[in-house]
Amino acid sequence: MDTAYIGKSRKRVDGVKKVTGSATYAGEFKPEGLVHGYVVNSTIANGKIVAIHTGKAKMIDGVLDIFTHENLPDDVRQNVDYTDPLSPPGHPFRPLYNDQVLYNGQPIALVVAESFELARYAAGLVEVEYLAEECTTDIKKNMGNATTEGVEDTAPDRGNAELAYANAAVRIDVEYSQPRHYHNPMEPHVSIAEWNAKTQSFKIYDKVQGVNSSQEYICGIFNLDTENVQILSPFVGGGFGSGLRPQYQLFLAAMAARELQRPVKVSLTRRQMFSFGHRPACIQQLQMGASKEGKLKSIIHKAYGETSKFEKYNETIVDWSGMMYQCENVKLEYRLIPVNVYTPMDMRAPGGATGMFALECAMDELAIKTNIDPLEFRLLNYADKDQNEDKPFSSKELRECYRQAASHFGWFNRHTNTQIKDDSILVGYGMATGCWEAMQQKSSAKAVLTSSGKLVVSSSTADIGTGTYTVMSQIAGDTLGIAMEEITFQLGDTSLPKAPIEGGSWTVSSVGSAVKAVCNHLKKQLIDLAKVNVDEDLDHVDYDEVSCTDGTLIFPNGTLVNISTLLVTAGLDSIEAENALEPEERQEQYSSYAHSCVMVEVHVDKDLGMITVPRVTSAIAGGRIINPKTAESQILGAITWGIGMALEEEGMIDDRSGRIMNANLAEYHMAVHADVQQLNVLFIEEHDDIVNPLGAKGLGEIGIVGVASAIANAVFDATGKRVRNLPITLDKLLE
Ligand code: MOS
Repeated sequence: MDTAYIGKSRKRVDGVKKVTGSATYAGEFKPEGLVHGYVVNSTIANGKIVAIHTGKAKMIDGVLDIFTHENLPDDVRQNVDYTDPLSPPGHPFRPLYNDQVLYNGQPIALVVAESFELARYAAGLVEVEYLAEECTTDIKKNMGNATTEGVEDTAPDRGNAELAYANAAVRIDVEYSQPRHYHNPMEPHVSIAEWNAKTQSFKIYDKVQGVNSSQEYICGIFNLDTENVQILSPFVGGGFGSGLRPQYQLFLAAMAARELQRPVKVSLTRRQMFSFGHRPACIQQLQMGASKEGKLKSIIHKAYGETSKFEKYNETIVDWSGMMYQCENVKLEYRLIPVNVYTPMDMRAPGGATGMFALECAMDELAIKTNIDPLEFRLLNYADKDQNEDKPFSSKELRECYRQAASHFGWFNRHTNTQIKDDSILVGYGMATGCWEAMQQKSSAKAVLTSSGKLVVSSSTADIGTGTYTVMSQIAGDTLGIAMEEITFQLGDTSLPKAPIEGGSWTVSSVGSAVKAVCNHLKKQLIDLAKVNVDEDLDHVDYDEVSCTDGTLIFPNGTLVNISTLLVTAGLDSIEAENALEPEERQEQYSSYAHSCVMVEVHVDKDLGMITVPRVTSAIAGGRIINPKTAESQILGAITWGIGMALEEEGMIDDRSGRIMNANLAEYHMAVHADVQQLNVLFIEEHDDIVNPLGAKGLGEIGIVGVASAIANAVFDATGKRVRNLPITLDKLLE
């Protein structure tokens, strides 16, 4: 058996469980005596609750209790720490804290009953009287309230961007906007909380992208030590950022479970999935100048992002414009506009998908105005160093992305080569660059190897559908030369060694590197055992000279040592190791990013304005690809989201009430199977031994960045119409 797994396509190790329904998701556990909570949400966006009438609901047989701000337990109200590891500056939202309403859809009561249906029915009988105040949710109308308070610094300005802009031969001055986007994972948020009064401890099943973050949140609110709060999340039906911060159903389930001394489940409905964080609406202004020869002279990028009235949610939107291209004069500005909504949240390449949308559309506009091919224009301004930090890249194969994408897509003969002969169809082509930072976070892992040859590796990380179970097994198997069938990877449990939340595309680089390191510890232990138990001649062998394959250690002198036999000979049932791994200091001297080149073809119906995307090519330089199969799935999914971002996704809020009008999957449009045609993913070879011990940059987010811009650019190419406010719907083409 070949146990060299890294770089090879493997099916998901949890695939059979998932398709046969035996993978148990957070909401599917059934502790004995489980009861159900149903959330009542506010129908105003700003004001006060004058009264909540719960009498009728309480009379329903099977209703156990109704929690509101009026009967919230005192200790819970007094604890002020509702933060989680991702809390932005401000005051985190505290469910049922008082009579104030901060946004439309705010949870204001929890009805707990013997069944979900009863709880839902009773929730419908709860009557609420409000004193509504005026609300405002439209950032465009509130540009005057843009603030730098609580806003993180952007990358530094350089040169004199205003002067260079004024003197540039070719200039553009454009404004882009995008609406709110909602994450919409297939599995809605759900928590099942069990309270043990004797030990004063919680056991909670939670749909979340990081169990440790839910643990920290619950510990803060209920004033408990981490030993007394166990969070479990073995399978997650999609996150896209929605599970990075703990949500209100977690608090409500835990609070009710403790008060009622019964296990309580609170799951959100699809509509309620629109009642918390979202990708913020954003307005971006770009002034860019170039020479006649197509050299960038000036970039001025200003972004205005939406936030709530209680927290200052920050994204990195404008820094990309300072980093991506060679340009001596750059000015960056980022401001927040607080409105009456829940605090926005990270979603699918937060900041990057947004900032690069505007930058890459603006690059297209400037290229066309300069009369240079958009791809040539980018090559003319290619940055071999990180322009913001003046640091070298640990690796950057973006040129090769451009080259291979162009050749695969047929970029340079695109207009002469079209197959479309139908006069009612306008054909267009567009391209864009994508970019996402390759990050690594401190991460721990544990490995136990038994004399029967079984390896169990564990870490409290998550698998939100990305393939964590699979790639971690590959990394462990590869490092120790053990067949994947003999390996179990455990995750999603706070009792396991601590890992960061699964976000930022850093799970492989962080947890994967920790898994590799801990397996290397085991390998060393095995080599030491072999030196004592097998052959003293092996004493002088360096650890690095020994390879592992097929359950066997191979020494440089040709000695083969079977791992199981070795443990039996040494009289050991098992060996184990645990470690925590942090990024190396030398990484600081470099900038590390994954890059992509996206090229798309669009067809636009001349009379109806309908847009389809028959073809997308995405060439990705993301370092080493651990599993091409799961890697390709990540990018296919991300391109699909990019199509939705460009053409469909739009959270619509009625500005008079602050109420979301399309809080369902029928009216909140997103790209589905029928919107997707030919998607081609190319992985570009990229060697990087600086970025982390695996050389893998992470692929969770790079796939969406640039897609919306490439589509917008292609729509312009087809129609001559530049739509700068997403989504590009047919009405905007026909107007
Ligand atoms: Mo991602 S938005 O970091 O889950």
